[in-house]
Amino acid sequence: MSVDRTEKPHAVTSEIARVSELAAAPLSLRAAVAEIRAQFPALSRGHDGRPYSYLDGPGGTQVPRRTIEAMTRYLERSNANHEGAFATSEESDAILGEAHAAAADFLGAGGPDEVAFGQNMTTMTFAVSRAIGRTLKPGDEVVVTRLDHDANVAPWLALQEERGVTVRWVGIREADCTLDLTELERVLGPQTRVVAVGLASNAVGTVNPVRQIVAMAHAAGAMTYVDAVHAAPHVPIDVQAFDTDFLVCSPYKFFGPPLGLLYGKPERLEQLASYKVRPATDEGSGKWETGTLPGESIAGVLGTFDYLAWLGREFGGAGAGASRRAALAAAMETIHAAERGLSLAALAALGGVPGLKLRGITDPDRVDERVPTFAFTLAGRSPREVAAELGRAGIAVWDGDYYAYELIRTLGLAETGGMVRVGFVHYNEDSEIDRLAEALRAMAGSLAAPGAGLSAGPDGRTA
Ligand SMILES: Cc1ncc(COP(=O)(O)O)c(C=O)c1O
Repeated sequence: MSVDRTEKPHAVTSEIARVSELAAAPLSLRAAVAEIRAQFPALSRGHDGRPYSYLDGPGGTQVPRRTIEAMTRYLERSNANHEGAFATSEESDAILGEAHAAAADFLGAGGPDEVAFGQNMTTMTFAVSRAIGRTLKPGDEVVVTRLDHDANVAPWLALQEERGVTVRWVGIREADCTLDLTELERVLGPQTRVVAVGLASNAVGTVNPVRQIVAMAHAAGAMTYVDAVHAAPHVPIDVQAFDTDFLVCSPYKFFGPPLGLLYGKPERLEQLASYKVRPATDEGSGKWETGTLPGESIAGVLGTFDYLAWLGREFGGAGAGASRRAALAAAMETIHAAERGLSLAALAALGGVPGLKLRGITDPDRVDERVPTFAFTLAGRSPREVAAELGRAGIAVWDGDYYAYELIRTLGLAETGGMVRVGFVHYNEDSEIDRLAEALRAMAGSLAAPGAGLSAGPDGRTA
């Protein structure tokens, strides 16, 4: 193949990558998109003679062949429960142990004991917030944001009733859907015990300055709980660099099977009393893994990490001899850099659709502050109508509020069906952006609404 793999991206040191330094990398990964797509069997699906276009990634991504094969292999050869004195159980335990080690590499954790697998992010967040709640008393405060998915809000709200805890809210700047950090500064105080915040918005794609938020929370004496579910397929995660107390994500959003993945600082995991049965260990992450784990799914996520490590070595400049941790970091750096190109192309294409109003960061100069997840309304059409028409054309997109309740309410869109959401990941192609824009333009045109022209976004730009 003709792709030049000698280009080497520089190390990313912050949650918002210094993508400008990575100018060469996007070309190599984007130029190799056919090779990337060949890794994902689902992407060969057609629809009325055209490829099916998966722009529904924010709700769950497709999985590479390595993941499917790892799941099948587990079920065919190593399917057994934990800690038996026989070959299949030993193999199963080895696979689960390796998956923990790979997850620690992916998140930049200190080791496998700092990560736990569970049913999904929501269930794990309820488990941790209940355990933290045991340590709280009336008057203690928990901070949540209006940009977050409800899974990082509702479990904390429940502590009001259960523990008499006060919940303080951080709002957004409507113009660009970024968190209002002056409000965070205002609500933080000696009573703050927890700050729950997302790394990236699953609705409008904003990436939050998590290191700064963690530093602010720690300065007030609070611990942090970071929801990285939406960020995980797009940006490098380094829990030690973030210095967060907890971080949670969901493998099914980053090319793996349905699962939740929790990181906790060792001292936090140690201190908290989890709700668990007696056989579950009291040490490390084990006490957060209740009951029998889905071995085939955890084997599958190990396949996903193998895929990402391959990508990091092939296209991220990590080199054949790189450690898994280095290869995974390189993969996410190069994915993030390549997605910058997708974001710029999508901003330009959506900006050319009459009557389309895009929310969030629309300024191309600020593309490093977002991931390629876009939410918009189209004049004269409900979000459901737009999604259904795109669906009929073989373009999968979401509509509604995607459980970002407070954001949709703040934007005044709760009563009108929310917004259409399109999400791109590294396996999406530029041609899919063109096809989407063409379909949207046709819809806008068919309305023939007098005066339906470009409408300025809330930050004054048209998109
Ligand atoms: C940002 C964000 N947080 C949390 C969740 C909930 O994740 P899970 O389905 O693993 O519980 C989602 C799911 O859409 C999400 O997008």
